[in-house]
Amino acid sequence: MSTRQYHHIHLLFGLVLVSFLIIGGARVILDNLRNNVLWQNNKYYSVRVPIIVSEDEAIEEGCNVFEGKWVWDNTSTYPLYREDFCPFLVKQTTCLKNGRPDSFYQNWRWQPNLCNLPRFDGLKLMEMLRDKRLMFVGDSIQRGMFESMVCLVQSAIPTHVKRSLQRIPPRKVFKVEEFNASIEYYWAPFIIESISDHATNHTVHKRLVKLDSVSKHSKEWQGVDILIFESYVWWMYKPTINATYGSLDNIQEYNVTAAYRLALETWANWVESSINPQTQKIFFATMSPTHLWSWEWKPGTDDNCFNETHPIEGSYWGTGSNLDIMGIIEDVVRQLKVKVTLLNITQLSEFRKDGHTSVFGERKGKLLTKEQRSDPKNYADCIHWCLPGVPDTWNEILYALLLQDYRAQ
Ligand SMILES: *[C@@H]1O[C@H](CO)[C@@H](O)[C@H](O)[C@H]1NC(C)=O
Ligand SMILES: *[C@@H]1O[C@H](CO)[C@@H](O)[C@H](O)[C@H]1NC(C)=O
Ligand SMILES: *[C@@H]1O[C@H](CO)[C@@H](O)[C@H](O)[C@H]1NC(C)=O
Ligand SMILES: *[C@@H]1O[C@H](CO)[C@@H](O)[C@H](O)[C@H]1NC(C)=O
Ligand SMILES: *[C@@H]1O[C@H](CO)[C@@H](O)[C@H](O)[C@H]1NC(C)=O
Ligand SMILES: *[C@@H]1O[C@H](CO)[C@@H](O)[C@H](O)[C@H]1NC(C)=O
Ligand SMILES: *[C@@H]1O[C@H](CO)[C@@H](O)[C@H](O)[C@H]1NC(C)=O
Repeated sequence: MSTRQYHHIHLLFGLVLVSFLIIGGARVILDNLRNNVLWQNNKYYSVRVPIIVSEDEAIEEGCNVFEGKWVWDNTSTYPLYREDFCPFLVKQTTCLKNGRPDSFYQNWRWQPNLCNLPRFDGLKLMEMLRDKRLMFVGDSIQRGMFESMVCLVQSAIPTHVKRSLQRIPPRKVFKVEEFNASIEYYWAPFIIESISDHATNHTVHKRLVKLDSVSKHSKEWQGVDILIFESYVWWMYKPTINATYGSLDNIQEYNVTAAYRLALETWANWVESSINPQTQKIFFATMSPTHLWSWEWKPGTDDNCFNETHPIEGSYWGTGSNLDIMGIIEDVVRQLKVKVTLLNITQLSEFRKDGHTSVFGERKGKLLTKEQRSDPKNYADCIHWCLPGVPDTWNEILYALLLQDYRAQ
């Protein structure tokens, strides 16, 4: 939509049009808003819609939404948005556009064992985010989750509602003005400070983390209403990592698990001292799995995720997902007085060997060349995910948990 189109449409921000809705009215208004017809006197109106969480949107008591299976779903409305309709996707994730021949990976729906996930409703999410900021903090995996969320919302809000995406490294900020809401991304691949914190000019081979320092980043997180953290692959380059703790002159090689724990404790201290649990919500996503070695799910083979078109069936856990790190996350979060909700997305994503960008993504900021594509052994990316795809499910779960909280208020 062009900016010119916006100009002759007046959006009245914050006007409470409907304050006495009859039961069920909210649904009607939401539908109207969705159908882009809520306007009077040649003006569009911003409507505050009480969010009604119906019984079938509630997560049943005792249901662990992270336990379940992937079901093929090409009948309802999967995927939740179309790759070519979301202008905010970076080319790293647009697998179809980059030449991926199959689109099966877009049609798997996560089905928890003991309950159903509520259907993702971007307008309800925007209502929950009214006057709020939601921020994803982490590495490029987390950037995928951010982009997924932007596309999920983008496809749900009516076309006249003004939106924008600003890139102010190390941040990306997606704003929906009518709701005064923002969905943001903050690059911090180790969460704590490191020499890799420049959003574009960072070293991959040389890593140095400051295990006791987070303030350069955390001052940018101050006051954000909903924060989702994630950090994993950058730690796992080698079994040890160069780090400082205290004096910057004293660089030592740390065992990665030991370093990870110290880093998370630094983060936890910040959470404990700076987060107001009354007004802020914190989530921590467990590691996103990789599918680098096909012998792990197909014994006797020597490939990677390239050419995979179906999820793994039956139980599976790849060796790339370090259980010690999982345990550290669990431990540190449990000891906090401030509630941090775990997004335990590792197991469900483990099944999705088919969901990675493989040779239909980027390498060092550039799409693969034809020659590189024909050499999947060296060039397939089995870490990042295609969109629409697996990160949408992480967001559906995040949405379900936010809705749950909202309902409990
Ligand atoms: C949906 O998937 C089933 C099973 O693979 C297939 O038979 C059917 O043709 C598909 N339908 C559409 C609309 O793609
Ligand atoms: C918009 O949201 C921000 C928080 O994200 C808040 O500080 C500000 O007061 C809001 N503006 C209005 C006009 O409500
Ligand atoms: C990237 O960072 C290195 C080291 O800090 C610096 O020498 C180099 O000039 C930077 N390159 C760009 C393009 O900013
Ligand atoms: C740590 O730094 C030293 C000196 O730069 C380097 O030789 C060593 O390989 C680094 N260790 C790791 C695990 O990167
Ligand atoms: C790192 O620590 C873990 C847990 O204490 C241990 O199992 C592992 O062997 C250590 N690795 C190295 C390289 O010292
Ligand atoms: C990938 O799949 C295609 C089509 O099924 C097949 O022709 C090709 O040989 C496969 N390549 C590899 C490296 O497995
Ligand atoms: C996450 O889920 C896995 C498998 O479902 C489980 O083994 C693990 O304990 C859970 N981790 C946390 C931190 O809750």
